[in-house]
Amino acid sequence: MTTPLLSLRDIKKNFGSAQAVAGVTMDIHRNEFFALLGASGSGKTTLLRMLAGFEAPSGGDILLEGASIAAMPPNKRPVNLMFQSYALFPHMTVAQNIAYGLEMDRLAKAEIKSRVSEILEVIQLGHLGGRKPDQLSGGQRQRVALARALVKRPKVLLLDEPLGALDKKLRSEMQLELKRLQHEFGITFIVVTHDQEEALVMADRVAIMKDGALLQVGTPREIYEYPETRFAADFIGVMNFLPVSVASGGYQGKEGPLIRAADAPELAGGSAAVAAIRPERLGVETQGENSLAGEITDIAYHGLDLLLHVKTPLAETPVISRLTADVAERLSPQVGQRITLGWSARDTRIFPA
Ligand SMILES: Nc1ncnc2c1ncn2[C@@H]1O[C@H](COP(=O)(O)OP(=O)(O)O)[C@@H](O)[C@H]1O
Ligand SMILES: [Mg+2]
Repeated sequence: MTTPLLSLRDIKKNFGSAQAVAGVTMDIHRNEFFALLGASGSGKTTLLRMLAGFEAPSGGDILLEGASIAAMPPNKRPVNLMFQSYALFPHMTVAQNIAYGLEMDRLAKAEIKSRVSEILEVIQLGHLGGRKPDQLSGGQRQRVALARALVKRPKVLLLDEPLGALDKKLRSEMQLELKRLQHEFGITFIVVTHDQEEALVMADRVAIMKDGALLQVGTPREIYEYPETRFAADFIGVMNFLPVSVASGGYQGKEGPLIRAADAPELAGGSAAVAAIRPERLGVETQGENSLAGEITDIAYHGLDLLLHVKTPLAETPVISRLTADVAERLSPQVGQRITLGWSARDTRIFPA
């Protein structure tokens, strides 16, 4: 086993009587693109600030390559934090903004010059080094802020909602750009986001935070396909929830067939539970252990796929079935049509109600 780059050991932070971070334990590895995902107020920024050294933990320890950095001042840590607001110096050019941190570190002039021009190329702003921040677009300013953080070649780059100020299209471009830069520089990235889609797209691993605590850590696929809690199942992507009770050999809704689930948790017979199924697993033609009849109440077009809203005897709210464009074209579903949805026991998650 190699030593993790960063180890968080039961890290806590209290502000007065309020607990912002409630004992987080996890490891982050070299060259990982790691996302901290959670709703506003879940403690993401506070956790990041403790890693950077701007906030002292109320308890626990932070190890870097096995040694505690809890008492190390921020400027001694090989960790760089890119702030939520880019905080570029308005009176300095792009190149001066990027060079600033290196000058503070008293690097040789020639070294600074070559590093700055190298990074300007990497972020594709080689031609704009002489501009001031207010002469740049939002996306360009974002790149400069990133360059300024990367140019110092930290072991870990912390990014707090780095794409929060960008519009949707630019955001998805920059998500790929961030991945490219992380790969190119071989620096560990820890990115805070409240956007679950962004976390899944960018990260090697995602940590879901809620109320200062860690709910689940895993690859995007693990988080999406195997949420460990109902909260995670609901927070990530779209999920159908069917109220059921635990029966012999399966799960019984208020009407309709027994629902079967593989790998379900042990729950007491008769107790209330929910069955959770992703829309793309709920197919009109899907073969599986489960089938459920219903009526199409609405059809929503989403370009590559079609969302069917299907009223079933199992729940008040219609379930959502996602069909790919080719399947939808073949079936040409109509509102009012009665259909049977099918899905596999393997694709059914069960949570206690
Ligand atoms: N300096 C502070 N003083 C008091 N409370 C704070 C301070 N910073 C954060 N908090 C509180 O800690 C909780 C977590 O905040 P934060 O880490 O900013 O969450 P997030 O970044 O996930 O939105 C919130 O309830 C917030 O109000
Ligand atoms: Mg925050």
